[in-house]
Amino acid sequence: MLVRFFSGTILLILVACLLELNGQEQPQGKGKGKGKGPDAKLKADQDVFHFLLENHKDIKRTVKLLDNGVETLTESDKPEIAAKIQEHVEAMHQRVKEGRGLRHWDELFAEIFKHYDKIKMTVEKTKKGVLVKETSEDKYVVKLIQAHAEVVSQFVASGFTEAHKNHEVPKDSPKVDLIYPIIPKFGGVVPLPKAVEQPRKGTKIVFDVTADSKEVNKGLERAARLLNLYGSAGLKAADIKITIILHGDATKVALSDEAYKAKFSAESNPNLPLIRELQKAGVEVLVCGQAVSYKGFQSSEIAKEVPIALAALTVIINRQTDGYACVPIP
Ligand code: HEM
Repeated sequence: MLVRFFSGTILLILVACLLELNGQEQPQGKGKGKGKGPDAKLKADQDVFHFLLENHKDIKRTVKLLDNGVETLTESDKPEIAAKIQEHVEAMHQRVKEGRGLRHWDELFAEIFKHYDKIKMTVEKTKKGVLVKETSEDKYVVKLIQAHAEVVSQFVASGFTEAHKNHEVPKDSPKVDLIYPIIPKFGGVVPLPKAVEQPRKGTKIVFDVTADSKEVNKGLERAARLLNLYGSAGLKAADIKITIILHGDATKVALSDEAYKAKFSAESNPNLPLIRELQKAGVEVLVCGQAVSYKGFQSSEIAKEVPIALAALTVIINRQTDGYACVPIP
């Protein structure tokens, strides 16, 4: 009886070890592992990403979405962590080139490696980590790359808590060609010249933006989309007047690059390039002075191109008195 108990236990331990070595650690309820035979480098690769997950708090990362993929900067001030980031990405680059997957139970990772031959990856070492560009000519693979970059950011934010989760494959949306007639790169639209309710000349809008954002703020993007809708209908930027008032969680959108960098460990404020494009198209972008104070920012930390208004309330009331429609972006 005792012998049967021990031999059963040993068998279980052996199976668990084999699964771990083959990269098939199963999260709760998932059992879709499908290895490609023995993988000699897996243990070494696992040691490195386990080290990164353990030290996730000392890693900084920014992701820039491109039309055809992502550009990511992942760094650490600690040289030993920076070196491991470089080692990890080098090893993963090799895996992508050769289609040698891992983490097969995670649907997103399995899907990425199914399409490895459509991924182009360039890796540049920086002093503190890596600058990676991953692109594809296939729109679906672009979505996979972008979803994966988001998962890596979640690994950096939450470490092992995130690493134990499955990640879903993004749904393939119908292939649409977006156009950007007034604001390049942001707020793309589908031209529908025969649709009812075309935009009118002389419209006046105040966007009341309080939305928080990790990347480019959705209130700014909404304004870009509206302008592009005007452009798609043959109208000009001058045919619409737009004011954007930033307050609440959107106050940080108005910070200068230096202040944003210091407060949010980012390379720069990702919103300023779009703010400048919107301003070129005649959009007025303001920040609420009350919110600046409540959020603990100094007025010297606000970007020069964004005027500080007395309050979001006065802006919204003044513009509505002047006949502007108010669109909240919470
Ligand atoms: C804090 C932990 C981690 C960091 C900092 C990190 C960092 C990175 C970076 C910078 C890239 C290049 C692509 C990009 O920047 O989006 C990358 C790619 C990759 N990583 Fe990690 N990673 C971490 C954890 C993991 C874990 C836990 C796994 C798997 C178990 C993993 C597997 C991969 C794979 C397969 C790729 C290549 C696939 C692709 O880029 O499309 N990483 N990682």
